[in-house]
Amino acid sequence: MSTPDHPQPTERPGLAVVLGGTGGIGAALVAGLQAQGLKVLSLGRRTLPALDYTDEKTVAACAQHVAERVAHTGLPLQRLVVATGFLHGDTASGQHAEPERSWQHLNADALQHNFLINAIGPALVMRHFLPLLPRQGRCVAAFLSARVGSIGDNALGGWYAYRASKAALNQLVHTAAVELARRNKEALCVALHPGTVDTGLSQPFAKKGLQVRPADEAASDLLAVIDELPAGSSGQFFDHKGLPVPW
Ligand SMILES: NC(=O)c1ccc[n+]([C@@H]2O[C@H](COP(=O)([O-])OP(=O)(O)OC[C@H]3O[C@@H](n4cnc5c(N)ncnc54)[C@H](OP(=O)(O)O)[C@@H]3O)[C@@H](O)[C@H]2O)c1
Repeated sequence: MSTPDHPQPTERPGLAVVLGGTGGIGAALVAGLQAQGLKVLSLGRRTLPALDYTDEKTVAACAQHVAERVAHTGLPLQRLVVATGFLHGDTASGQHAEPERSWQHLNADALQHNFLINAIGPALVMRHFLPLLPRQGRCVAAFLSARVGSIGDNALGGWYAYRASKAALNQLVHTAAVELARRNKEALCVALHPGTVDTGLSQPFAKKGLQVRPADEAASDLLAVIDELPAGSSGQFFDHKGLPVPW
């Protein structure tokens, strides 16, 4: 929503990149950004080029693809949205991982995979994609995190690997924001909590009574937050209503 303190931005539509644009929230973000008039590039494990955090070369190749698109179209990269993430499923080594209910369930393979997808992959994205943001003008890099990654908000415990890897992501986002500000004072780099959303990631827990929202609703909220991030808010962690989440 536009308020006197946070006017609607006056940017002319440029290029948007959604990493994990093939996921539940990612696909809805792609549709939402297209509806805003931006040219959108969606990258994931099943796109060409493919993005797979288990192979850093693919991150570099995707960034090169985006750099060529920026050069070819002359459009600035105004939005970089990182919608990748892992909570449960098969790990890179072929084992199965579920969120831990107790320290008894802590397992090195699951921890490694959560950190790989939720923190190390996005860190490699920072390395390869943040230099593609324009050196002047407003632009936003938004990394989907999760409220359960908040240490201050953790009253329930459990979900060790997911929580810890998202907390690591939050620190990476804050650190990258400091460096990004030296390149472009109007550039913003933030962590966002999308709310609880109906996707494959949340499905097993929705069955256990978790309240979920449709992905298009979550995407529309997140895009409104991104559009209205005020100057000086880079490096922070916001929810889908634009409210700050404690670290
Ligand atoms: N859904 C929720 O309730 C909820 C709540 C809080 C936070 N979040 C966060 O929101 C983000 C999006 O979640 P979602 O609900 O849309 O989950 P999702 O539907 O499971 O999507 C996950 C995305 O991560 C990508 N991914 C998984 N492994 C990858 C790898 N090795 N390399 C590159 N990409 C990989 C998937 O790619 P493929 O399409 O190729 O499989 C997919 O695009 C995540 O960061 C999640 O932690 C979600």
